[in-house]
Amino acid sequence: MTDAANTPATANVGVVGLAVMGANLARNLASREGNRVAVYNRSHDRTEQLLAAHPEAQLIGTETIAEFAATLAKPRTAIIMVQAGSATDAVIDSLCEVFESGDIIIDGGNALYTDTIRREKAVAARGIHFVGAGISGGEEGALNGPSIMPGGPAESYRTVGPIFESIAARAADGTPCVTHIGADGSGHFVKMIHNGIEYADMQLIAEAYQLLRSVAGLTPAEISEVFKQWNSTELESYLVEITAEVLAQVDPATGKPLVDIIVDQAGQKGTGTWTVQAALSLGTPVSAIAEAVFARGLSSQPAQRIAAEPLRGGVSATAIADPAAKQSFIEDVRQALYASKIIAYSQGFDVIRDAAAAHGWQIDQGAVASIWRAGCIIRAAFLDRITDAFRNEPELQLLAATPFFAEALRGAEAAWRRVVTAAVNNAVPAPAFGAALAYYDGLRAERLPAALIQGQRDFFGAHTYGRVDRPGVFHTDWSGSRTETQLS
Ligand code: 6PG
Repeated sequence: MTDAANTPATANVGVVGLAVMGANLARNLASREGNRVAVYNRSHDRTEQLLAAHPEAQLIGTETIAEFAATLAKPRTAIIMVQAGSATDAVIDSLCEVFESGDIIIDGGNALYTDTIRREKAVAARGIHFVGAGISGGEEGALNGPSIMPGGPAESYRTVGPIFESIAARAADGTPCVTHIGADGSGHFVKMIHNGIEYADMQLIAEAYQLLRSVAGLTPAEISEVFKQWNSTELESYLVEITAEVLAQVDPATGKPLVDIIVDQAGQKGTGTWTVQAALSLGTPVSAIAEAVFARGLSSQPAQRIAAEPLRGGVSATAIADPAAKQSFIEDVRQALYASKIIAYSQGFDVIRDAAAAHGWQIDQGAVASIWRAGCIIRAAFLDRITDAFRNEPELQLLAATPFFAEALRGAEAAWRRVVTAAVNNAVPAPAFGAALAYYDGLRAERLPAALIQGQRDFFGAHTYGRVDRPGVFHTDWSGSRTETQLS
């Protein structure tokens, strides 16, 4: 073990936690000019393995947290890459023991933003800066260029900005996919919304796949080809690209498409649920994202699905026989997927806007869209258009209604309705497609049946209502004279 007191402070950044994400991030940092990287892991074996496997990275391995701190030049900057939750708190506590005022602790995990707000307060009390940074792109992104969403004090960004910019993915126009999102938990909040959108995007793609399979009667290999083609249209995106690959995979053991062998129960680590919880608290409708979370929930309730046995039989899918009709249905699904995707992203940005207002965060939504253009899981060609929309109108109220997207939605509308109808008629569950379309229709409606709900609320609870023809608050004496009183 090295003596911490005599360790030269030669590293400009350190990584704590050397599981795949942390190890890859450390290697990415080390590969960029100007960085010297210290690493620490609770079990030192892993540190030694990483150093041995990647001598080219010239990582500085440390055995104790004191030695790790001593290896870092000031202001010390450490990126924590451990499992979100209590493990993060434990590392923060130990870093606080050895760090000093002005040093910076970055949490690069998928922390719940309220935990980040709490942690920042506690750490700031010691004069240490705390940066909750969402990092997207999976293992490959961590190694070659992720999209990074750091929050925390603006002052700390002067130090962490150049470090993050050195490793972030670059959009096609060369912009690094990192920006200071805003104060305290805003970075993790935006990463959470990224994941909520990711859930919706994946569910929509899965629904499109099921429709192509059951209604168009295509095989997984054929659907893989369809997704490959779609990836050169408006749908161009990482998730569509990998979907084509997953569907093309054949299981060597059985010779069957691997997608037919994988257990049909979707896992989740919580970020989708958090997105919906946050949206519910803010009163922001995120129906497409919520249906995606619920669909994963339904899939992973085996006991309930077994209990549903008596509900089987009855209506089922009939594959389209006519080749021309089949081709036109495939194109309909493509358009429905695009339209639903626009709605899901629009809903995600709505939550960011409402949360920013509630928490006093100054979030530049155009910058958020811009840093999602490369590196992250939801990277997609149409994020260029989303970036433009927010750049043209920073206080944008509704992304879906901006000229480009309104036209896209109108153009896809007929196909979208046919697809949702086909899903219903063929008993193919397509909750995210349906929710996105219902949301679109809800937005477009000149009058909503919410008027009736107000009448019902006033009937049973004297909750009052407004009138369309004059200002004021009104109540009808429903169970008595049925006369209306103006209350204010
Ligand atoms: C990313 C991913 C990443 C992770 C998700 C998966 O942006 O790199 O979103 O954060 O893969 O946590 O989430 P689930 O396990 O909940 O699907």
